[in-house]
Amino acid sequence: MTSVNVPETGRRVLVSGASRGLGRALARAFAANGDRVAVHFGSREEEARATLGSLDGSGHVLVGGDLGDPAGAASIAERAAEGLGGLDVLVNNAAVNLPHPPVTTAYEEWVRLWQQHVAVNLLGTSHLSHLAAHRMIAQGTGGRIVNVGSRGAFKGEPDHPAYGATKAAVHALGQSLAVALAPHGIAVASVAPGFIETERVAHRLTDEVRAQSPFGRVASADEIAGAVLWLASPGAQWASGTVLDLNGASYLRT
Ligand SMILES: NC(=O)c1ccc[n+]([C@@H]2O[C@H](COP(=O)([O-])OP(=O)(O)OC[C@H]3O[C@@H](n4cnc5c(N)ncnc54)[C@H](OP(=O)(O)O)[C@@H]3O)[C@@H](O)[C@H]2O)c1
Repeated sequence: MTSVNVPETGRRVLVSGASRGLGRALARAFAANGDRVAVHFGSREEEARATLGSLDGSGHVLVGGDLGDPAGAASIAERAAEGLGGLDVLVNNAAVNLPHPPVTTAYEEWVRLWQQHVAVNLLGTSHLSHLAAHRMIAQGTGGRIVNVGSRGAFKGEPDHPAYGATKAAVHALGQSLAVALAPHGIAVASVAPGFIETERVAHRLTDEVRAQSPFGRVASADEIAGAVLWLASPGAQWASGTVLDLNGASYLRT
């Protein structure tokens, strides 16, 4: 069974959170590679339609749904696979990142935000991965799961602790799944980016933030998408279990 491997192109790919930002760049990168993409969105349907309309090739589909709800995750996986005629690659990109500094956040707000981060970032990733893996195993095709984690899992997120903690959990989940799913030809890896030039964080990208990297800049969404595309390729099977730092040497973990 371990001899099965994904093809180079023509794959059926679900990208969660592809309404804008990195998810949109991911959807475009896979489409440009000749893959067919299920463009998932949470609330920004119009932006997701713009992503869909910008993709190279044909056969792409749009799938909305709340990843913070287990039934929502099941429906997303089902409709994506139905629309694409199966599933070869899952990219767990959707996430929330809302501030909740421990010292100044009231307890009720703290609890609410922790629950939201865990529900979307960790459980949404876990549930979509389970559903995708079961489909890939039933197909007998092998597959790829790539998680979008974060540098914050290692460096710390003092004003966004639930974000950092859930991203660390996503990395750990990916490593456990890499071991569990390898006998079925499914490779699982994560990327851990530092800051990326996306709409969501544009207001945070000060000169000081850019200077965190000795290159004096933050990542483009396209260069992160390029790394994810490689991790989803047949040649990257041996990278299964990795957590790939993509932070321009802004943080070196030991
Ligand atoms: N930007 C950075 O500097 C940076 C750095 C490291 C890692 N990352 C990671 O990269 C990924 C993308 O970041 P981004 O900056 O592109 O963020 P973004 O623009 O906020 O995109 C997040 C995506 O997740 C979706 N989403 C959020 N909550 C959801 C829910 N409950 N159900 C379904 N979908 C939901 C959003 O859908 P709607 O908009 O349709 O609601 C959106 O498409 C995230 O995993 C983030 O943690 C980003």
